[in-house]
Amino acid sequence: MADRDGNIIAKNYGIGIPVEKENFHVKGMDHVDWGMKNRLSKIFNPNTGRTLMLAFDHGYIMGSTAGLERLDLSIPPLIEDADVLMGTRGALRSTIMPKMNKAIALRCSAGSSVLKEDMSHEIIGVNIEDAIRMNASCMAIQVFVGASGECQTLNNLTKTIDEGNRYGIPVLGVTAVGKEMERTTRYFLLATRIIAELGAHIIKTYYCEDFEKITSACPVPIVIAGGKKVVEAKALEIAYRAIQEGAAGVDMGRNVFQAENPKAMIKALRSIVHNGFNPKEALELYHSIKNEK
Ligand code: R5P
Repeated sequence: MADRDGNIIAKNYGIGIPVEKENFHVKGMDHVDWGMKNRLSKIFNPNTGRTLMLAFDHGYIMGSTAGLERLDLSIPPLIEDADVLMGTRGALRSTIMPKMNKAIALRCSAGSSVLKEDMSHEIIGVNIEDAIRMNASCMAIQVFVGASGECQTLNNLTKTIDEGNRYGIPVLGVTAVGKEMERTTRYFLLATRIIAELGAHIIKTYYCEDFEKITSACPVPIVIAGGKKVVEAKALEIAYRAIQEGAAGVDMGRNVFQAENPKAMIKALRSIVHNGFNPKEALELYHSIKNEK
């Protein structure tokens, strides 16, 4: 059965052929229950089928990250333009007003820090009761395919999916990258498909070459992370290409809160995700907002 070359020789991705949906706007989610559909509809706008998430969960492994030194100052001004806030329960409870009416992607894996050489040994850091208490719209679990902690993190994923299915809370499987993992199309094809087949409802991964193969071969929606800060024009280009090539959303962090003008950046990303702007138009929007007095 084991055949490492399977995804090297695979070629029938049906790129450009839309997946048939019965009556629900989120890919692969026709057959989940009402509550889960309702949560997915908070995440993915029913009009566009897409989502703009704002990731600020970096502190769970990186501590006080540039741009997030004061969560209470940096995040609230950005909430209005995000569909989903992706954070830890500690950050959310301490710095975000519960009256805000956005979806929550709750970071539910934990157990590592940037001080560790091998960060792949995570655990489930939030139990289902607290995820419900936090009114999570989805629970995010990091998965380290190919690393020494692979089995442990796949176990975190499947256990959380079982609990999520019991209570109608989707799971966002996050493909980790690190020293032991490649950043190749082949790797992301493997990791995203494994996470989807194990039952995750949404997958977060990175944009890469031949990205259309990844979105085509993944039966559930893919959102992209941004990675390290790049110039604004480049981040907007990546977001645009990802959406054009089948991503259902963007979940950037550092490229928003480390931008010269984070508020302008999230508005520019939103224009790509929901309003059909191309990178040039989005960059013009960025500069026009940045230059406002
Ligand atoms: C990664 O594990 C975290 O989920 C981050 O939220 C994710 O990497 C997105 O942030 P960034 O766009 O800064 O990479």
